[in-house]
Amino acid sequence: MRLPEQQAAPVELTPVNTLPRIEIAATIEEAARLAAGRIVNIVNRDPYAAITYATGQTMIPVYAEVARLLTANGTTFVNTEAFHLDEYFPTDPSAAYSFVGYVREKIFGPFGIPLAQRHEMDGLAQDPIAEAARYEALLASRPISLAILGIGPGGHIGFNEQGTPFDIRTHVANLAEETIYRDHEERRLATPELAITQGIGNILDAEQIILVAYGSQKGEYLRKALHGPITPDCPASALRLAPDRVTLYLDQEAASVALST
Ligand code: GLP
Repeated sequence: MRLPEQQAAPVELTPVNTLPRIEIAATIEEAARLAAGRIVNIVNRDPYAAITYATGQTMIPVYAEVARLLTANGTTFVNTEAFHLDEYFPTDPSAAYSFVGYVREKIFGPFGIPLAQRHEMDGLAQDPIAEAARYEALLASRPISLAILGIGPGGHIGFNEQGTPFDIRTHVANLAEETIYRDHEERRLATPELAITQGIGNILDAEQIILVAYGSQKGEYLRKALHGPITPDCPASALRLAPDRVTLYLDQEAASVALST
């Protein structure tokens, strides 16, 4: 199933020359430790933080380290609110690629987030557009303290694919061919071609934004996002509109490509 394609409205862009803060670590493990430490610090300062969680392979060592830190230093996530960044549609939480399944296993359980504060996207909703609207209303009910992001094919953030307007809110997205190729051919996952995702507008509303990336391929997406034009053709370039609220956590391999001009 596909939705009719949307045209990105032209955006008025103020030139922004400041780059986000970038923390570079020698290894993936160290980059994950730095990002996890930042997440835990934010919750230490604000135990009621509302957090949007990216999923994906990148975040696995980050969330494992957060869980380890919780046991080691007594920080609690029991008062935090947890939000999804995105979910494939239609998707049963038991599917190997379900982000809801991932979040339950790697975040909600290990971080001890109570049921009432786990705000799940329903990948099995009858009407995905209505489900996106429900989720948008939920997000509008409180400010997001921290949005945690990865980066994917074409520089997508969440499932905001190339061409997505920067002011878009939670919506149903047609996945880009590159994303479908990654999932079907590289990862051998039978993912659907639609997803529900927070929009770039929601992401940019967050008080703090962190993006984690490792390796040269992601470094290349980031090189375009950091040094190319700020344009919907490169969704992650939108992060340059809020440089003082964004921190990138990169391993050396991603950084050496991302910072080359
Ligand atoms: C996925 C998701 C993103 C995720 C990104 C990176 O498709 N839509 O939310 O951050 O791509 O995923 P990974 O870390 O598995 O490469």
